[in-house]
Amino acid sequence: MAIEQSSSQSSGNNIEGKVIVITGASSGLGEASARLLCAQGASVVLGARRVDRIESLANQLTTSGGKAIAIATDVTQHDQVKRLADAAVRRFGRIDVMLNNAGLMPQAPLERLKIGEWDRMIDVNIKGVLYGIAAALPYMKQQKAGHIVNVSSVAGHKVGPGFAVYAATKHAVRALSEGLRQEVKPYNIRTTVISPGAVATELPNSVSEPDIAERVRKGYENAIPADSFARAVAYAISEPADVDVNEIVFRPTRQEY
Ligand SMILES: NC(=O)c1ccc[n+]([C@@H]2O[C@H](COP(=O)([O-])OP(=O)(O)OC[C@H]3O[C@@H](n4cnc5c(N)ncnc54)[C@H](OP(=O)(O)O)[C@@H]3O)[C@@H](O)[C@H]2O)c1
Repeated sequence: MAIEQSSSQSSGNNIEGKVIVITGASSGLGEASARLLCAQGASVVLGARRVDRIESLANQLTTSGGKAIAIATDVTQHDQVKRLADAAVRRFGRIDVMLNNAGLMPQAPLERLKIGEWDRMIDVNIKGVLYGIAAALPYMKQQKAGHIVNVSSVAGHKVGPGFAVYAATKHAVRALSEGLRQEVKPYNIRTTVISPGAVATELPNSVSEPDIAERVRKGYENAIPADSFARAVAYAISEPADVDVNEIVFRPTRQEY
């Protein structure tokens, strides 16, 4: 399929007219980003496994005059992430931004040997990001433009007892983002990695150990709303094309860790 060589931005916000693919768009940070970016004139392509949620979000956004489609996507399956990116190009002609946001955080000390949870974090938090890059990069190279935004965490900067594997996956996201940044210079592609602190979403629900869940719940008492993240994404995207915002770390003002 032929892709358009330039996006049809028609306003000064540098978001209007952009085609933005979002993984993990069914709740939390992905959903908040879809709402804000669509309200600012982007066409959003929503991926997640809970298809009822993304279809309902896409319906709400289009009913309010926005442009949105929903595609069932499990980011652990390369072919499904490719199908998500292909659907964006088929429907809207190009991909301006790939927001690799899907993730989970089932914290537990290593000695509890939660091997299935380690596998899932590696599959979703690392391989899911790689599959997102693989799906978007060929289009962006052809366009000689694009922006890949990956979601790390404060745990991508710090390690602590109980979340070694989650922190390892989020350190990996930062390493991948920095490697990608250096490699895509010839193609005029921008890269951003965003590392949030505690933001109020469904993320703590992925903790399966009751004592750790209680500790995480306390850590989230000062959590800030998900639109804090959406604004960080909008800031990075809205900068002029020759400005590459590479890394954003933000926390609740009251968060010490
Ligand atoms: N909230 C925080 O405090 C915080 C802090 C730092 C970093 N983060 C990161 O932010 C990202 C978003 O998390 P959130 O806080 O918004 O949590 P959330 O509300 O639990 O959302 C997680 C999203 O990931 C999706 N997801 C999980 N597994 C998936 C899979 N196999 N395939 C496709 N999508 C999948 C979920 O969709 P389905 O279940 O419908 O597939 C959901 O939309 C994660 O990468 C997380 O690590 C969050």
